[in-house]
Amino acid sequence: MERAARRAILVVGVATLLPLSASALRDPGFCDGCHGEGGRGDAHAGIPRLAGLPARYLERQLEAFRSGERTSPLMSPVAELLGPEDGEALAGHYAALPTPPAAVLPAGSGKRLARSGDPTRGLAPCDACHAPAARLRGEDIPVLVGQPARYLARQLRAWRSGRRGRPGLGPMPGIAAKLSEAEIESVAAYYAGVVERE
Ligand code: HEC
Ligand code: HEC
Repeated sequence: MERAARRAILVVGVATLLPLSASALRDPGFCDGCHGEGGRGDAHAGIPRLAGLPARYLERQLEAFRSGERTSPLMSPVAELLGPEDGEALAGHYAALPTPPAAVLPAGSGKRLARSGDPTRGLAPCDACHAPAARLRGEDIPVLVGQPARYLARQLRAWRSGRRGRPGLGPMPGIAAKLSEAEIESVAAYYAGVVERE
């Protein structure tokens, strides 16, 4: 098993088996055990960056894990141990941390989808909402640049199969349903800043 995955399982084991005090859980150092130092993510384990994501987005994701609208074998048990006020404090903490330096993004089909979308299928450019300076970007929309490719691809597949979502809300289930497996791989690699293998 990968070292990061072993570590992640260990952290959940500790969190669920020991009577952790609320303050221990509220300590971002606990979260960083999986999410990387300073919430910068763990590309190898496919665990997302939290640093610099909008506070409201982060808080809503924690709520979604708690309510079961979004599920993850690693993250759901953690979220279930947090109260709403813990979620607010942790979201504020991570939102205030700097985002990683801009990656040099690779060319390829993922880039086309991100920049131009595909009007023939009614796909808007992903960057219309997800670019750091996007016109439509609000507190509900995460920046994708620099997230682990494995993580991004997993989210798109989760929408396609109904494993993630606030049902009836938001554009992502409809968008993900239009993407082919190859497009998911290439657009995830693009935002991760990974050079694609042709
Ligand atoms: C045992 C490992 C582990 C620990 C500890 C952990 N997380 Fe996570 N977290 C994950 C994984 C794995 C995911 C991705 C889940 C998925 O694929 O949907 C995730 C996802 C998230 C997301 C969604 C990010 C996004 O871009 O949508 C948020 C927010 C989050 N975690 C916050 C926290 C906070 C706050 C803590 C500390 C209280 C924490 N996590 C502790 C493993 C962990
Ligand atoms: C109209 C705006 C809009 C467009 C266009 C859009 N998205 Fe999104 N995207 C969102 C919103 C809103 C969310 C947050 C969903 C939630 O709260 O669960 C999101 C979330 C995501 C996430 C999850 C990120 C995370 O940290 O968990 C991924 C991956 C993603 N979008 C990929 C894409 C891709 C790839 C495209 C283009 C093919 C795209 N999006 C186009 C609005 C958009």
